[in-house]
Amino acid sequence: MTNADLEKLVDTSDEWITSRTGIKARRIAPADVAPTDMAVKASEKAMEMAGCAKEDIELIITATVTPDRRLPSNSCILQDKLGLVNAAAFDIVAACNGFINGLSISQAYIENGQYKKILLIGVEKLSSITNYTDRNTCVLFGDGAGAVVIEASDNGSGIQSTFMKSDGTAQKWLWIDVGSAANPYQFGVDHKGQDKILMSGADIFKVAVKEMGNAINKVLDDAGLTGSDISLFVPHQANIRIIEAMARRLKLSMDNVFLNIEDYGNTSAASVPIALDEANRSGRLKPGDNVVMVAFGGGLVWGSALVRW
Ligand SMILES: CC(C)(COP(=O)(O)OP(=O)(O)OC[C@H]1O[C@@H](n2cnc3c(N)ncnc32)[C@H](O)[C@@H]1OP(=O)(O)O)[C@@H](O)C(=O)NCCC(=O)NCCS
Repeated sequence: MTNADLEKLVDTSDEWITSRTGIKARRIAPADVAPTDMAVKASEKAMEMAGCAKEDIELIITATVTPDRRLPSNSCILQDKLGLVNAAAFDIVAACNGFINGLSISQAYIENGQYKKILLIGVEKLSSITNYTDRNTCVLFGDGAGAVVIEASDNGSGIQSTFMKSDGTAQKWLWIDVGSAANPYQFGVDHKGQDKILMSGADIFKVAVKEMGNAINKVLDDAGLTGSDISLFVPHQANIRIIEAMARRLKLSMDNVFLNIEDYGNTSAASVPIALDEANRSGRLKPGDNVVMVAFGGGLVWGSALVRW
């Protein structure tokens, strides 16, 4: 869905969207494509790249706020679709930071030896919860999936440090009011968009810049590194102006920041793994590189991960 397509739906323009967000297009999954259908494709590619057999996956973690169903979890549906018969499976709900939370959880399980191979997926069909009559939000979001296989390394590569933080007092800055247990759908009632994403964009903008910067500094400090030791930053792709402001604040060169927001918009939990995969497949990552991922999302939740490639 291009900016020109959105101009036909709401009072907006390609110029406004491009200059205020950096987004030119976003991908919208067809009605008959479920989030786990996208997750299947991403997972198969990740397992192929990792040379990992299906029976070796011991844990499936899916980060999503748009599961196929409320019950069961996406991870269980994915287990069935992929035939990952030896795995445990659960989902995590941490909005745009879900993949980072998943990395942190995986790090703990791998380090304590409980699981040897973990399939971690970030997948969203945000088009299913986006209000296409609200120009404040509908220009931002897209659908997608990304996946990684995580296992122990014996050469010092891999996850070096992770950080997660939340602030539930700002829960209504990015939320959906109607349609779940606390406030169910009512038959015959027009919920007036309260059953889709509701957002205080300007509030989120300021805190995102500050806290993603702090989160980056935290994982760098924990590893005894500075920004100049980092080969590539892979930030959550929410708004080019948030990313640029964060980079300015930390005095990072934008040459070291991976961007694909132009093509995909904000895909929430899928954003960081899609960007990581594109960075990797385009040759931006070499063995020994230090890579920092960082994200921020509704909850509020935010976090970072430092990985040696
Ligand atoms: C949403 C966001 C792009 C808005 O950009 P902004 O520069 O803060 O814009 P403002 O909210 O100040 O709105 C400025 C004006 O543009 C208008 N506007 C909003 N969306 C518009 C659109 N799609 N097209 C044209 N005008 C639009 C607003 O109505 C407002 O008009 P007004 O001054 O007449 O009231 C920006 O705040 C943002 O990206 N915030 C973070 C959101 C986010 O990342 N959410 C997910 C977290 S993971």
